[in-house]
Amino acid sequence: MKVLVVGASRGIGLEFVRQYRADGDPVVASARDDAGLARLTALGATALRLDVADAAGASGLGWQIEGAAFDVAIVVAGISGERVAPMTPPTEANFDAVMRTNVLGPMRVLPQIAEALAPGARLAVLSSVMGSIGGRTAASSWLYRASKAALNSVLKDAALTLGDRAACVALHPGWVRTDMGGPKADLDVATSVAGMRKVIAGLAAGERGVFRNHDGTVIPW
Ligand SMILES: NC(=O)c1ccc[n+]([C@@H]2O[C@H](COP(=O)([O-])OP(=O)(O)OC[C@H]3O[C@@H](n4cnc5c(N)ncnc54)[C@H](OP(=O)(O)O)[C@@H]3O)[C@@H](O)[C@H]2O)c1
Repeated sequence: MKVLVVGASRGIGLEFVRQYRADGDPVVASARDDAGLARLTALGATALRLDVADAAGASGLGWQIEGAAFDVAIVVAGISGERVAPMTPPTEANFDAVMRTNVLGPMRVLPQIAEALAPGARLAVLSSVMGSIGGRTAASSWLYRASKAALNSVLKDAALTLGDRAACVALHPGWVRTDMGGPKADLDVATSVAGMRKVIAGLAAGERGVFRNHDGTVIPW
């Protein structure tokens, strides 16, 4: 099984690489800096330098993965940005950073990844339950939430466009102990990623976009 992980220098992305490599799967994975690239190479992955927020860099992904025929592709790259309370305007710089990374980044790389998928592939993006509108009962972090709600929309349109070519899922990893999740988070990264790999593997062929927790439960859009 050939796997692509975008945004794999640390945290959840790096753990996806570690687990797929431990199973012997060939993995192509991306990082932005030399240290991240070295961690990927050390795990036996083919490492690509990629900043999804950089237009020129992101547009070069396609030729680097041309003809790869990935069975699984996962877009993990994301930032939380500075926390913004609801009804408080974000700074333009914070808005641009979060939206460029979490929304524009996937919109740039997904079309290129689509061209490099094997028939019947599985395509996942790392969303968050924070982006769920249907399940929302209290307001918080409205910029990050807006970015993940937008990412869910992007994933759904990708799924409807790809049709039977790929089963597509937006994943919530749980609250995970990474640099982003912090040390008090509920889940260790290995458990979260093992759960999400199971969800990805269990997707029905041609699944046209679902939103799932790391344990497989469906999350309302
Ligand atoms: N941890 C949680 O509790 C949690 C909960 C819900 C959703 N998520 C989502 O899960 C994903 C991974 O989170 P994490 O906890 O592993 O976060 P993390 O530890 O902060 O790692 C974020 C990863 O994204 C990469 N990245 C950030 N901006 C990028 C860009 N412009 N281009 C390419 N890569 C970029 C980072 O690379 P660098 O090392 O180069 O910065 C790093 O590899 C994110 O999308 C996040 O929103 C996490």
